[in-house]
Amino acid sequence: MSQIRGRFLRAASKGTIGYTASIPFDWRLYPYDIAGSIAHAKMLSKQGIISDKEAKIITRGLTAIREEIERDKFKFKSEFEDIHMNIEARLIEKVGKVGGKLHTARSRNDQVALDMRLFAGASLLQTGKAIKNLQQALLGLAKTNKNAVLPGYTHLQPAQPILLAHHLLAYFEMFQRDLARFDDCSKRTMVLPSGSGALAGVGYDIDREFLAKELGFSQISQNSIDAVSDRDFILEYEFAASICMMHLSRLAEEIILWSSAGFDFVELDEAYATGSSIMPQKKNPDVAELARGKTGRVYGHLMALLTTMKALSLAYNRDMQEDKEGFFDTVDSLLSTIEIFIGMVSTLHVKADNMRRALEKGYTLATDLADYLVKKGEAFRSAHSIVGKLVNYAATEGKSLSELSLTEYKNFSPLFTKDVYSITVETSLAARNTIGGTAPERVKQALARAKKILSKPQGK
Ligand code: ARG
Repeated sequence: MSQIRGRFLRAASKGTIGYTASIPFDWRLYPYDIAGSIAHAKMLSKQGIISDKEAKIITRGLTAIREEIERDKFKFKSEFEDIHMNIEARLIEKVGKVGGKLHTARSRNDQVALDMRLFAGASLLQTGKAIKNLQQALLGLAKTNKNAVLPGYTHLQPAQPILLAHHLLAYFEMFQRDLARFDDCSKRTMVLPSGSGALAGVGYDIDREFLAKELGFSQISQNSIDAVSDRDFILEYEFAASICMMHLSRLAEEIILWSSAGFDFVELDEAYATGSSIMPQKKNPDVAELARGKTGRVYGHLMALLTTMKALSLAYNRDMQEDKEGFFDTVDSLLSTIEIFIGMVSTLHVKADNMRRALEKGYTLATDLADYLVKKGEAFRSAHSIVGKLVNYAATEGKSLSELSLTEYKNFSPLFTKDVYSITVETSLAARNTIGGTAPERVKQALARAKKILSKPQGK
C-alpha cells in the first residue's frame, strides 16, 4: 500500500507529503490507535461483518505492530501521513489483504477523534494523580512547619501575620479546584465518537455500545457530524491546564521571592537548584522560573486551538490536525511541572526565624492595634487613622510597635493602656478565628480536612 490516492493518477509532491504529514508528532497516539482498532475488529466480527478468523488475524497483527513500535523496530513513514495509515499499511504488509478489512465501517475522521479522546482520557487520569501528589507534598510541608508564622502580603507589602500552613493550604484549595475542572472535563472527554464514519454515520450494522464498553467510554456521541468536528474536550483540558499552570506559576513566583536574599524565607534543596556559569556564589531557582515561563506557552496552545477552530465549517477539516502538537505539549508541560514541583516543595527548607523577624519590620500588628481601639469604643475609621499616624511615628523613630513607650502610645489616643503590650503575633493569629481564617485552631481543622480530602478517591 502506498498513499491513499483513490482518484489520482499522479503521486503527491514531496513537499505536499512533508507539509501534510502528522506522523512526526502523532506517532505517540499508537497505543490508543491500536487499542481502538482491536476493539473495532472484535466488534466487526461480533456483528458478522468480518469473520472471527479474520478478526483474530487482524488482532494478532496489531499486537505484533505494537511490539515493533515499543521495541523501536517500526519504521514510521511520512508518505503514510499519520499514525492511522502507518499502522494500517504495516498491518496489510504483515497479514495481507485481510488487513484491509479493518477499515470497514470507519473513517480516519472518527478514528482520530477516538484516539485523541483516549489519549486525553489517559492524560486526565495522570493529571489527577499528579495534582493529588502535589497537594500531598504541600500538606507535608505545612505539617513539618506547623508553627511557622510569616507576614501575609497584599500588594507585596507586609500585611498581617499568617501561619505558613494557612498560606500553603491556599494552594491546596487552588489545586482542589483544578482537580474539579479536570474531572468535569473528563465527563465530556469519555464520549465515544466511533461509528460516526467520515461524518454521516456508517452503513453497517455496528454495535457502538459494545465499543464504548470495550474502550472504557461512559457515553456515546449523539450526532455523527458533531462527533468528528468536536475538539471541545481538548480545549477544556487546555483551559483547565492553563489555570493550573497559573496556580503553579504563582507558587513558583513565591518560591523565587522567598528564596531571594531580600526575603530569605526558604532555601531550595540543592537537588532543585542550579548554579551560575560565571558567579560561583549563585544558587538559582531555575526550576521555578521555568515553570513560570512554561505557563506562557500553555496559554498559547489554548489560544492557538481556539483560533484554529473558530471558523471551521462542519464537519472535519484538516486544520484540526493542528490540535495535536499544542495538546501534547500542554500535557507534557503540565505533568513535568507538577512532577518537579512535588520534589521541590517536599524538600523545601523553611527558615521560620527569618519569617518571624520580617513580621516585626513590617508593622503587621497594626490592624490588631486598630481593633484594640475599636474594642475600647473607638470607631474603626478613626482607629485606622490613629494607628496610621502611630506607625508613621514609629517608622520615623526607627522603632517597632513593641518598642514604643506607653506615653508615646498615649500621645496618639488616651484609650491606650498597659494591656496594649499584650498584643502579639500569637494573639493576632488567634483572633482570626473565622471560618477559613488563620487562627491556629482553624488551620488545624483545615489540615485535617485537607488530609481527609486526599484520602478520598478522585471525583468523590
Ligand atoms: N492526521 C489527521 C488528523 O490529525 C487524521 C484525520 C485525517 N482525515 C482526513 N480526512 N484526512 O486530523
